[in-house]
Amino acid sequence: MSGVSVTKAADDAAPAADDLVVLSNVNKHFGALHVLQDIDLTIARGEVVVVIGPSGSGKSTLCRTINRLETIDSGAIAIDGKPLPQEGKELARLRADVGMVFQSFNLFAHKTVLENVTLGQIKVRKADKAAAEKKGRELLDRVGVGSQADKYPAQLSGGQQQRVAIARALAMDPKVMLFDEPTSALDPEMINEVLEAMQQLARDGMTMVVVTHEMGFARSAANRVVFMADGKIVEQATPDQFFSNPRSDRAKDFLSKILHH
Ligand SMILES: Nc1ncnc2c1ncn2[C@@H]1O[C@H](COP(=O)(O)OP(=O)(O)O)[C@@H](O)[C@H]1O
Ligand SMILES: [Mg+2]
Repeated sequence: MSGVSVTKAADDAAPAADDLVVLSNVNKHFGALHVLQDIDLTIARGEVVVVIGPSGSGKSTLCRTINRLETIDSGAIAIDGKPLPQEGKELARLRADVGMVFQSFNLFAHKTVLENVTLGQIKVRKADKAAAEKKGRELLDRVGVGSQADKYPAQLSGGQQQRVAIARALAMDPKVMLFDEPTSALDPEMINEVLEAMQQLARDGMTMVVVTHEMGFARSAANRVVFMADGKIVEQATPDQFFSNPRSDRAKDFLSKILHH
C-alpha cells in the first residue's frame, strides 16, 4: 500500500476504513415470514445508531444476526472488515467483539456481580484472575455499581442489574455494543440511570446500535436513526431530520403513536 495518497479509483471496491459493521443485502426468513428484507446497513466506527420501529418489524432479529445469534439466508455481514464466521473458535472471538445487552438482564444468577464481569475475560480473553478483577471493578465503578461487586444479581435492582450487564459486555473490549430495548423491562425510575450509562459510553466513542423506544435518548445520543417496518429499513436520517420531518407514512404514523401519549 502506498500510504495516505492511495488513489480513489484503486480503492473503490474496498470498504471505507472506518466502516465497522457492514450488512449487505441481508435476508432472513422464519418459515414463511420474511423477517429481514434486503437489509443494507453500514455503521461507522464511533457511530451511535438508534433503531426504532413497530413491534415485530425485525429489530431484535437484526441485532441477533449481527452477533450471529441468528443465521442469515443470504447477503453478508462483516465486522471490522471480516466476514462473520460460521462457527468454532473464530465465531466465539467474533461474538466477544460484539457486546450485547438485552431487555432481560441475563446475568448469571449463581455468580456474584464481580464474577459476572470477570468470567468472560478469563474464559474467552484468557485474562488472569487478578487482572480480570481489577478491570471488572473499574467497569462496575464506571457504570455506578462498584459497591455491589460481591452481591448476587437478585439482590440488585433492575437498573443496577442492567448496568452490570453493560459492564459485563464492556469487559470483553467489544468493538461494537448492541442494545436491544435495554430499558423496556425497567421500572420508570430506573430508566435514566441506565440511559445515562449508555450516554456516557456514547460520549466515550463506543460504536453502538441501540434498539429503543426512548426518543429522548435517540435525540441526544444518536448520530443516526434507522426506522424499520415489516422487515425493511424504511428510512434513516439524523435524529433532527427524522423527528421533525419523517418522510415515509409508516414513520409518520409510528411517531404519532409514540409521541402523543
Ligand atoms: N425464533 C423465531 N421464530 C419464528 N419467528 C420469529 C422468531 N423470532 C422472531 N420471530 C418473528 O419475527 C418477527 C420480527 O421479530 P423481532 O425481530 O423480534 O421484531 P422486533 O424486535 O422489531 O419486535 C415477528 O413477527 C416475530 O414474531
Ligand atoms: Mg424486539
